[in-house]
Amino acid sequence: MSVTGGSREPPVRVYAVAVGGYFPVRGSHPRVPMRVSGVVRVPGDKSISHRALFLGALARGTTRLRDLLTGADVRSTARILRQLGAHVGPLRPGSTVAVRRGRPRSSRGVLHCGNSGTTARLALGLIAGEGLRARLTGDASLRRRPMARVVDPLRAMGAKISDGAGDRLPLTVHRGGLHGITYASPVASAQVKSALLLAALAGRVPVTLTEPWRSRDHTERLFVHLGLDLRERSGALRYEPSADSPGGFELSIPGDISSAAFLVAAAILAEGGELLIERVGVNPTRTGVLAVLERMGAHVERLNLGAEGGEPVADLLVRPAALLGTEVGAGEIPSLVDEVPVLAALASRALGETVFRQVGELRVKESNRLELVAGNLRALGTAADVRGDDLFVQGGTQPPRGRVETAGDHRLAMAFAVLGTLPGADVRLSERASVAISYPGFFNALKGIGRGARHRD
Ligand code: S3P
Repeated sequence: MSVTGGSREPPVRVYAVAVGGYFPVRGSHPRVPMRVSGVVRVPGDKSISHRALFLGALARGTTRLRDLLTGADVRSTARILRQLGAHVGPLRPGSTVAVRRGRPRSSRGVLHCGNSGTTARLALGLIAGEGLRARLTGDASLRRRPMARVVDPLRAMGAKISDGAGDRLPLTVHRGGLHGITYASPVASAQVKSALLLAALAGRVPVTLTEPWRSRDHTERLFVHLGLDLRERSGALRYEPSADSPGGFELSIPGDISSAAFLVAAAILAEGGELLIERVGVNPTRTGVLAVLERMGAHVERLNLGAEGGEPVADLLVRPAALLGTEVGAGEIPSLVDEVPVLAALASRALGETVFRQVGELRVKESNRLELVAGNLRALGTAADVRGDDLFVQGGTQPPRGRVETAGDHRLAMAFAVLGTLPGADVRLSERASVAISYPGFFNALKGIGRGARHRD
C-alpha cells in the first residue's frame, strides 16, 4: 500500500505490500503477491462501548467494563458523562474501566462531542431524561449532521431544546420533565432508538417505538441484560419504567465487526494464507457485511460461537477469494451501514457490477460517504457513480492508483487503505490520523496481518 499526503496535508509514510508484509515504496509494483496470516483481535465494539458507558452512568453501584474501545469517539462519551457528574475511570487499552453514577448535574461548560454522532444523539436523550441543562456541540463534521431525528421526538416527549442553526449542533437542552411517547421513527437509526430509550429510562416514562427497518439492537440487549422491562410486540418496542434504577454491571465488550471488516477485506484480497480474528461481535443486526460477502463468493467462517452480556461473539476465519458483483437491497443496509465503504472497495475488485440500493443515509455520516466513496473509487480508476440514492460500482482488475480524499472520515481512510494492499497499488490518502476515531492501531494491524501477526488491537 502506498499512502502519501494529499494537497492539504504533509506527505505521510508510504507502504506497499510484499510477500509476508509491507515495505515503504512509493508507487512501485511489488513483484510477489501478499500472503495473509495471523491470529488477531480488533478493538471493542464502538456502539456497545458508548451504550455501556451511558448505562453505567445511570446505574446504581459500580459498573466494570472490559475491552472498552479507547478510540476518540468513546473518549468523547466518557468526557461528557464526567462533565454531567458521572465517575468514569481512565480509558486505557487493556484495562477495565470503572463507571459510577455521581450526582447528576447541569453542565456550565459546553459538552463537546468531538466527531461522534452517537455521543451527541444519545447524550441529548440522557440529558433530557435526567432533566438537566446542558449545551452540546461537536467538531465541524458533527455540526453538519442532522439532529432533528432525535430532537423532534424528544420535544414530543416534553423536552425543551433550543437551537442556533436549524436542527444542527450546537443545541441547548433546558431543565424539565418528560412524558411517555409512542413514536414511529421515519429513519432506521439505532441512535434515534437509543436516545429515546435512554430518555425514557432516565426520565422514568414509558416509550413505544417502531422503525422502518430493524437497526442495530445493542441498547435493547443491554436493557434486557440489566433486567429492565423492554419487550417487543408486533414489531414495536415497548419500555415500561420500573421504580428502581438498574444496578451496576460487568461487561466484556466484543470486538467490533465494523473494524474487523477492514481486515476481513484485506484478507479476501490477499493471494494466499488465512486470517483468524478472535472474539468478534456477530449480532445479527450487524452481520449484513458477512451475508453480502458470502453472496460475493467469500465465505467467512464463524468459529467458537459464544455470548458476552447478551451479545453473540465468534472467531472469524477468512481466506482469500475471487469476488462477484451483487445487489445489496435497501432492507439490508441498516445491518451493514458502516461497511458500505469497505464493501464498495471490495466491489471494485469483483467480477461485474455491484449496486447498493437506497444508501442516501450515507450522505449524513461523518462525511458525505456516498459521494466520496464514488468519487474516490473513480480517482483510483474504477467506474463508480451515484444515481438517486443508489451507488453503482463496476469491478475491475487494474491496480488502484491515485489520490483519496478521506475528508477526515475514519471509515473512508481504512476502506481505501485496504485497496492500497493490492499488488501494484499506489493509493495516497489525504490523511490517516482519523482512524483513531474507532481503530487507533489500524495501520499496524494491517501491516501485521501480512507478517503473521499475533497481537491484540
Ligand atoms: C450507530 C448507529 C449507526 C452507525 C453509527 C453508530 C450506533 O448510525 O452508522 O456508526 O452506535 O447507534 P445510525 O443509527 O444513525 O444509522
